[in-house]
Amino acid sequence: MDDKMRVTKEGIRLYDSADFAGMHAAGKLAAEILDRVAPMIAPGVTTAELDAAIEAMVDEAGAVSATIGYKGYKHASCISLNHVVCHGIPGSKTPKMKNDKTGRKHDELVEGDILNIDVTVVVDGWYGDTSRMYKVGKIKSFADRLIQVTHDALMEGIAAVKPGNTFGDIGHAIQKYAEAQRMSVVRDFCGHGLGRVFHSPPNVLHYGRPGTGAVLEEGMFFTIEPMINLGRPETKILSDDWTAITRDKSLSAQFEHSVGVTADGCEIFTLSPAGKFHPTWD
Ligand code: MF3
Ligand code: CO
Ligand code: CO
Repeated sequence: MDDKMRVTKEGIRLYDSADFAGMHAAGKLAAEILDRVAPMIAPGVTTAELDAAIEAMVDEAGAVSATIGYKGYKHASCISLNHVVCHGIPGSKTPKMKNDKTGRKHDELVEGDILNIDVTVVVDGWYGDTSRMYKVGKIKSFADRLIQVTHDALMEGIAAVKPGNTFGDIGHAIQKYAEAQRMSVVRDFCGHGLGRVFHSPPNVLHYGRPGTGAVLEEGMFFTIEPMINLGRPETKILSDDWTAITRDKSLSAQFEHSVGVTADGCEIFTLSPAGKFHPTWD
C-alpha cells in the first residue's frame, strides 16, 4: 500500500513528481492514436471502422482501453458527430439533425460533418484521456469557427492552471472566452481528476466564478474538456443511455487534454507528437 498518499481536504489526490513520467507515457499514446486516426477521416468511412482501428492501435501498443467495460461501455473510443455533445457510440446510427439533407446511411461520415474522437488508454496503470475535433472534407464556416473557439477556450482554461489559482478560475476563463464569441458552455458534463484511476475528484467545471472552488496545488492531475455549443447549452441523453445531444440540435464541439499541475503552471500530458491537435494543422 502507498502509505504516503497525499489527498487534499476536497479529496483531490496529490501525485509525486516521479508520477509525471507515467502520465506522460499514457497521454502520449492516447494523443498518438488520435494523430494516426486523422488521415482515415473521409466521406464514406464509418465510425465503427474508426473505432476498430483505434482498438487495434491500443492493442498493438500493449496498452489497455479504459473505456471497454467501463460502466458497460463496449468501445475503445467515443465518436460524437455534429450535434452529439459527447459519448457518441461508434457504429450506432447517427442521430438525425434538423434539416439533415445528407441522406447518410447509419454511421457513415458525410462531407461537411464535424466530429470529436475521445480516447482513454491505460499504460502501466496510468490513464491518458484526450479528445479532439476532426472535419470531413469542406465544412461550413460557422462549424470551423465553433471548432476554433472550442480549442482556444480549452487553451484559455489551461493557461489558468497554476498553484494558487482555483478551479473556478479555470471554468471562468473558458466560459468568458466562449460566451464572448456568442457560443455556450455545456453544464451537464465536466472534466475530472485522473491518474491511477479514470475518474476521481474534482469535477472540473467549464464555467464558474474567479476565486471559487478548490485551490490548485502542485501534483494534481485532471482533465479539462469543454463542450461548446453554437446554440443553447442544454443537452439530452438518447435511449441508448450514452449519446448526449444538444436539445436544440445545434452543433457542438469538444477538445480534451490531461494535465498535471507543476510548481509554476502545468504540463500537458496529451500533447500531439505530430502537432495535429490544433484545428488548423491541416
Ligand atoms: N473519455 C471520456 C472522458 O473524457 C469518458 C468516456 S466514458 C465512456 O471522461 F464509457 F463513454 F467511454
Ligand atoms: Co475525460
Ligand atoms: Co475523454
